[in-house]
Amino acid sequence: MDMIRLAIMASGSGSNAQKIMEYFADNKHIKVVCLLSNKPYAYALQRAEKMNIETFVFNRNQFYETPEVENFLTIRKINLVVLAGFLWLVPEKMVRKFKIINIHPALLPEYGGKNMYGMRVHEAVIQNREPFSGITIHHVNEHYDEGNIIFQAKCRVDESDTAESLAEKIHELEHRYYPEVIEKLVSNGL
Ligand code: GAR
Repeated sequence: MDMIRLAIMASGSGSNAQKIMEYFADNKHIKVVCLLSNKPYAYALQRAEKMNIETFVFNRNQFYETPEVENFLTIRKINLVVLAGFLWLVPEKMVRKFKIINIHPALLPEYGGKNMYGMRVHEAVIQNREPFSGITIHHVNEHYDEGNIIFQAKCRVDESDTAESLAEKIHELEHRYYPEVIEKLVSNGL
């Protein structure tokens, strides 16, 4: 089996990126080749550098108006693009060219869409006194949070939970499942 080559895209801290890079560090079939970010100071970039994974920072113009990001991925023969806390809408031209998946910190289709990301999601879930929240891993299409769902996991939201404590529970689920789901997806032929 040929090596499957992953690119991670992240805008923030990159704790999910970290888990994915660690999980596949010694894998014979799956390799994290590069980490891309739209934020020059994203901590995710430092995490990748520490693990000797190539990084690339791009701006809005490069992403939406030029083929630079696509070319970067094509040259590196990327088979799967993994969004891990990446907050810009992926342009249609990229969605058509690459297989892309995302993780969302709620049970889609609830609490998704433009401006629903990170802590905002958890604040809304707490405000609405939802009994459950969770994570969704899904294919990416040209709309926010609308691609086919690959995997979901649930957690309870307790009366005593705050947006911060809920964020912690969600991060635990994400860290536990995202690498495994990627591995399964690859072993099923993507
Ligand atoms: C994660 O909780 C991820 O689900 C969320 O951002 C966080 C990034 O954390 N993504 C979205 O909200 C996408 N709409 P991390 O940088 O520590 O991996």
